[in-house]
Amino acid sequence: MAEQRIAVFDTTLRDGEQSPGCSMNLEEKVRVARQLENLGVDIIEAGFPIASDGDFAAVKAVAAECRNVTVAALCRTTEQDVMKAAIALHGAAHPRIHTVVATSDIHLEYKLKKSRAEVIEMTRQAVSLARNFAEEVEFSAEDATRSDVDYLCEVFAAAVDAGASILNVPDTVGYTLPSEFARLIHTVRERVVGDRPVTISVHCHNDLGLAVANSLAAIEAGARQVECTINGIGERAGNASLEEIVMALKVRADQLPYAAGVRTEELYPTSQLLSEIIGFEVQPNKAIVGRNAFAHEAGIHQHGMISNPLCYEIMTPESVGVSANRLVLGKHSGRHALALRYEELGYSLQPSELDAVYGRFTTLADRKKRIYDQDLIILLSAVARADERLPVEAAA
Ligand code: KIV
Ligand code: ZN
Repeated sequence: MAEQRIAVFDTTLRDGEQSPGCSMNLEEKVRVARQLENLGVDIIEAGFPIASDGDFAAVKAVAAECRNVTVAALCRTTEQDVMKAAIALHGAAHPRIHTVVATSDIHLEYKLKKSRAEVIEMTRQAVSLARNFAEEVEFSAEDATRSDVDYLCEVFAAAVDAGASILNVPDTVGYTLPSEFARLIHTVRERVVGDRPVTISVHCHNDLGLAVANSLAAIEAGARQVECTINGIGERAGNASLEEIVMALKVRADQLPYAAGVRTEELYPTSQLLSEIIGFEVQPNKAIVGRNAFAHEAGIHQHGMISNPLCYEIMTPESVGVSANRLVLGKHSGRHALALRYEELGYSLQPSELDAVYGRFTTLADRKKRIYDQDLIILLSAVARADERLPVEAAA
């Protein structure tokens, strides 16, 4: 089956940046944007221009700097918002205006204080105004997954009639389940899109830890754009993680015949750059880019890895840009891993030497969480010294 292209819409600089502890200054945003372009994402959402002067400046600067990628700016459906986004994007090589309004009853009643009919009218006006400034207009129905489906489809139809070519279905509060979300995407596809040249996009939050699973289910149901962030940063529990979606598509191409244009060897460097800029690392066991994502400590795993990495690895560290040593020496490590590390350090141990050093190694590993190369060298010289002290007949 021929692969279908999935557009990767990165919102690290907008949805990611607006979450606690993730703010970036202008220069930092431009550095991240350059790396996102290098990574090969299709769209960079650079900010929400009406929200602050900083966001406005960031969209302008990223649009000026990144000429080989679409640059999107977010706005609500008011005239002032749309105009601010249009001005910030002026001069962009590939501009996209992304306009959003909520569609769930709870948001209409308590946040917008608008009727359903008023929201449809706001949608129409915002999208047609935006179309004067950008060929590509994306419309998002905030809280789509808790919206009445018939009403959601009506709003989406109004957006398409007014000129939107991308319809985004956000799971704003991370509430939906994969099978349910897939059904919703099917419905939007059948009832709104039909054979019109309109792309369905999804934007999933991770409150139940399902953002990536929901995004993949949506792709299988017909979505052709995914919105995501590096390291999964974003409001509350975060957004769908870009690196996880991209690698799921690559590693499970047998089940998911869709391709993203991302250069996967740039995933880890991009993750590292972001962590360095925002000042916090991802959790060690985070898929793809966590410190332990390719580390093996258990003895039987290390033995399998040494015989053939395919025993315990479904992708190589190099494929995501990680070149670190995969075998971590600790109290669960076995003789094979220890011997291999000594070989890497330039020592080829005889079986008796390995036995002696392994005994000391396990004692040390009970006291110390990680054993470093320096520890191994000290252990080896301790074994050698002990040997020298033995009487000739005992050593023989
Ligand atoms: O989560 C959300 O609904 C959003 C929209 C602006 C797309 O971030
Ligand atoms: Zn969001």
